[in-house]
Amino acid sequence: MKGIILSGGTATRLFPLTATTSKQLLPVYDRQMIFYPLNTLIKAGIKDILMIVAPEHSGQYLNLLGSIFEKYDIRIDFKVQKSPKGLAEAFVLGEEFIDNGNVTMILGDNIFEDDFSEDIKNFKSGAKIFAKKVADPERSGVVKFDENNKAIQIVEKPKEWISDYAIPGLYIYDNQVSSVAKKVEPSERGEKEITSLHNYYLEKEELEVSIVDGVWLDAGTFDSLLEAGNVVKEKEIYKKFDPVINQAILEFNEELKVMAKKRLI
Ligand code: TTP
Repeated sequence: MKGIILSGGTATRLFPLTATTSKQLLPVYDRQMIFYPLNTLIKAGIKDILMIVAPEHSGQYLNLLGSIFEKYDIRIDFKVQKSPKGLAEAFVLGEEFIDNGNVTMILGDNIFEDDFSEDIKNFKSGAKIFAKKVADPERSGVVKFDENNKAIQIVEKPKEWISDYAIPGLYIYDNQVSSVAKKVEPSERGEKEITSLHNYYLEKEELEVSIVDGVWLDAGTFDSLLEAGNVVKEKEIYKKFDPVINQAILEFNEELKVMAKKRLI
């Protein structure tokens, strides 16, 4: 199982904060947002991770993540997405990286409380996505279930209510995903929609949908960014991180302190 973190985008809802850096490098409590999705993947035992980033922020990501996991046998590759052409484009850009295996993708601004290790480790084939009951489903991809809790319809940002279950930004696919993504035509808003991938697997009856119990935050607005910091602090989510990440952050901090001291001399 390989991992992709989609961490590009324009983050217009966070202007002007994102005029100077990437949304996913903004702080959520005591660390950059990107460490939360990274934790979700690393905690599940994924050691091969592709970061997809916007060109203007590639240097910042390389500075932060280019070497801190080296000694822990976790490999981070980088790929630039020239313009935000949609979530499903990740599998076109990541085709060579995925190399015919299974892949878990997480969005760089999604923060989960739950541990998805079992879902990721036990995944065999088809696709597995998740659903979370929310108050504002019209903001996301939405899944409708029948009376037996079987997923029967998936719609991107539905204009009319179909269900309260939003699809969070964590998706697991088998090796069909890149060839399917390549064939997806851009939607009206000009993006390769991830919903098109889900509908492909749904029609083939190869889509599994599980409910997320714990907190799911998408830190893409001022309010949700603030809420994310508060929730992370209250629930001490940073303490439940994989120890490797906390150790790597600690070592990076120490390095920064040494460099800062040298500058003062
Ligand atoms: P969004 O929040 O939908 O888009 P955005 O981050 O550009 O923000 P805004 O709507 O405020 O302009 O994206 C969800 C996540 O996916 C986020 O982490 C950015 C990432 N993303 C990409 O990396 N490439 C893309 O083509 C898109 C659409 C999103």
